[in-house]
Amino acid sequence: MDTRCPFKYGPVALDEAFTDRELELAELVADALNGQDVVIFAPRRYGKTSLVRRAAQRLLSEHALVAAVDLWTTPSKERLAAHLAREVAEITGLGGRLRELAQLFSGLRVTPVMNLDPSDGSVSFSFGVGHAAADIDQTLERLLGLFGETAAERRRAVVVILDEFQEITEIDAGLTRLMRAAFQDQPEVSHIYLGSKRHLMERIFSDANEPFWRSAKRVELGPIPSEHFASFIAAGFRSTGRGIEEAMISRVLALTGGHPYATQQLCYFLWAQTDAGAAVDAQRLEQALARLLISEDSHFGDIWDRCTANQRIVLTALAAEPGRPFSAAYAQRHGLRSASVTQRALSGLAAAEIVVRDGSYTRIAEPFLAEWIALRGL
Ligand SMILES: Nc1ncnc2c1ncn2[C@@H]1O[C@H](COP(=O)(O)OP(=O)(O)OP(=O)(O)O)[C@@H](O)[C@H]1O
Ligand SMILES: [Mg+2]
Repeated sequence: MDTRCPFKYGPVALDEAFTDRELELAELVADALNGQDVVIFAPRRYGKTSLVRRAAQRLLSEHALVAAVDLWTTPSKERLAAHLAREVAEITGLGGRLRELAQLFSGLRVTPVMNLDPSDGSVSFSFGVGHAAADIDQTLERLLGLFGETAAERRRAVVVILDEFQEITEIDAGLTRLMRAAFQDQPEVSHIYLGSKRHLMERIFSDANEPFWRSAKRVELGPIPSEHFASFIAAGFRSTGRGIEEAMISRVLALTGGHPYATQQLCYFLWAQTDAGAAVDAQRLEQALARLLISEDSHFGDIWDRCTANQRIVLTALAAEPGRPFSAAYAQRHGLRSASVTQRALSGLAAAEIVVRDGSYTRIAEPFLAEWIALRGL
């Protein structure tokens, strides 16, 4: 019997921490093998990165060549170039062969310094700083172009994954155009875009003035369906010698709505609250939630801190009752100010993904924030 907690939240969900998403996975793998570009939209912490990592594992087993860059780790064009060079070295199969790599990169206006790690033979690249914009731009164009050339030369499907893609506009104002131009010339390469800031991703792909406008297939990732999560939760508790009944699983899922991160987090605390040989009950669930709220206190405190007074009024109302804040009855019940004030407050909260609106029906999207507000008596 495994004695470690089977539930994990925070890092990407890999291997046994990953559940379901079979349909999404199959679709993503098929799209990637077809050379289709895809952009993945989902609320925060819904498992975008985990899904794409899983897809990458499958693609590798299908003999595709997979390159992945996380734009959070590349705050400058030089750093982006370094990561691209590393991925190009990987997919061309040149690995640690410095002479061949030097030849491959000889057409770059800014040539990278290559560092060989003797412990594992891997190579890292650096492009220094302070190059003329035209030189580093040409270098990036060439590096991006190498994905298409590699696909043609090696006759293999090439998939380029760009996580935290919204950061592209932060790195440099002209980078979006440059990248789009390079990718347009490589229709056989599949590009997969994902990012954690939905409104910025929307702007990049849904604004007609943006170079990436309608350039990729949109995929919306939802919560994990209850039936899949239920069997994952049951298996997690039972395989570690703890009991959990259907009714308790339903209560967990009612609290999290199938939100992948929130569900794993609550189960993590619930598991810790339940000794081996014992079973989950209502009291343990209550204690688990209380501990979770304590551990997230500074996170919720930060959210609260950043809210305006009107936003706090609206949030307190929504914590007590999700609904239609613009209806006169709702506004009166919860002492909301004028509709225009509420509207402004909600726009900011929606942009920050703290609330979601489905038509005029509005609820708090941030998991456990409603419980935290209730606990604090706000
Ligand atoms: N398929 C899954 N099965 C089980 N748990 C999952 C799954 N996908 C994600 N999770 C849970 O959600 C957490 C966040 O996953 P991940 O980092 O992939 O989300 P994300 O959408 O990329 O987040 P962000 O918006 O911060 O980039 C994981 O740590 C894990 O607990
Ligand atoms: Mg992510």
